[in-house]
Amino acid sequence: MDKFRIKGGKILKGQVAISGAKNSALPIMAASLLTAEPLHVHNIPKVRDLVTMSKLLTFMHVHVSVKEFPSSDYTLQATRLNDEVAPYELVKTMRASTLVLGPLVARCGRARVSLPGGCAIGQRPIDLHIKGLELLGAKITQEHGYVEATADRLRGAEIVFDRITVTGTEDLLMAATLAEGETILQNAAREPEVADLAALLNKMGAKIQGAGTPTIKIKGVTKLKGARHRIIPDRIEAGTFLIAGALTGGDLNIAACDPAHLDAILIKLKESGVKTKSTADSVRVMGDNPFTASDLNTEEYPGFPTDMQAQFMALATQAEGTSIITENIFENRFMHAQELVRMGANIKIEGHRAVVRGKTQLSAAAVLASDLRASASLVLAALVADGETIIDRVYHIDRGYEKIEEKLKAVGAQIRRIGNMLP
Ligand code: EPZ
Repeated sequence: MDKFRIKGGKILKGQVAISGAKNSALPIMAASLLTAEPLHVHNIPKVRDLVTMSKLLTFMHVHVSVKEFPSSDYTLQATRLNDEVAPYELVKTMRASTLVLGPLVARCGRARVSLPGGCAIGQRPIDLHIKGLELLGAKITQEHGYVEATADRLRGAEIVFDRITVTGTEDLLMAATLAEGETILQNAAREPEVADLAALLNKMGAKIQGAGTPTIKIKGVTKLKGARHRIIPDRIEAGTFLIAGALTGGDLNIAACDPAHLDAILIKLKESGVKTKSTADSVRVMGDNPFTASDLNTEEYPGFPTDMQAQFMALATQAEGTSIITENIFENRFMHAQELVRMGANIKIEGHRAVVRGKTQLSAAAVLASDLRASASLVLAALVADGETIIDRVYHIDRGYEKIEEKLKAVGAQIRRIGNMLP
């Protein structure tokens, strides 16, 4: 398994270009199931999860064509679909595979998708996806680890989410585009990735209003057409590099990002004493100030993203004072804390709160990545640790960061991948 070897203490300087958003590209690729016409999608990040999604769609007889592999430009065409199944072998490697459920039952009247099973960061059930499809008139059965949804044609309905769910909103948004009549999604997720998906669907001929707000209205149509779309930048990748620049006391320009999607992150960085300067499509971070401790609560967008919690914890270990980090979205998202403690951090976990006392000098160690964002947090800590850190199981980071070691190396980090398993 690949590992990273990182020598700490290098100041990062220069420019990093941000890739397209993984969490936008995934539902947008699944949307190709809604039409027999081609979708041309650009700025797709070259990360493992998108390779998995294209494997899943190919398994479902979607014609996936790319110039080179992995690619940032895909053409996807689901000319003919027949009794498609999302198999356990693929779904178990990436729970976002469940995003094919809504589009399949909407287009074909039948979908059979493996239930995703447990995840390192929490139970993560899909009960709200299923409940929503039932409200749209689908008949749902669950057996042998699979959920099966059937419907002659879905019917518009009002769906009030018990709690905000990102892929739940996206799954039902896609299903409702081909339903008969109007659907209203209440308490919907407002993430920029949801709005990006809706922008694509409207280009395909859907009638969606209110994406990006808690209330989304969808007037169903009988058929959708092909379209061309460019994926928005990855705000979590941008946030990760902002913290890399700050932590190393560097001067980094984070380019090709959308600062408007980074508000909560930039506010928290400012509170922690980090200087940033934004333009329309970039943010410059200058980390020459000492950091001050700052409490954090993870929330749904536009609140502080849970996908940045681990990275922020690495910063909090280098801040003067005590930071209380409260994780409100997932019940088990502090796996990185124990590894940071192995590097010399002072962190106590109390239920879904982490108490981080800083500033402590981090020392290099052999550490283990447990999930995508936890591994990013360990990379950040290793950049300021004394000595050479070895991070094992970096396949987690390859799921959501495009060539992170090359981007870091290009701005002065001393990082090397050991092994040969690139996406
Ligand atoms: C999306 O996951 C992202 N993944 C996650 O990013 C992100 O952490 C999460 O949203 C929250 O922002 C993708 O977009 C592919 P949720 P999702 O449904 O949609 C509970 C990363 O690092 N829930 O919004 O699966 C759930 O257990 C990944 O890139 C139910 O109870 O998250 C959680 O506690 C990790 N029933 C909460 O809601 C449901 O049917 C929010 O989950 C659905 C969700």
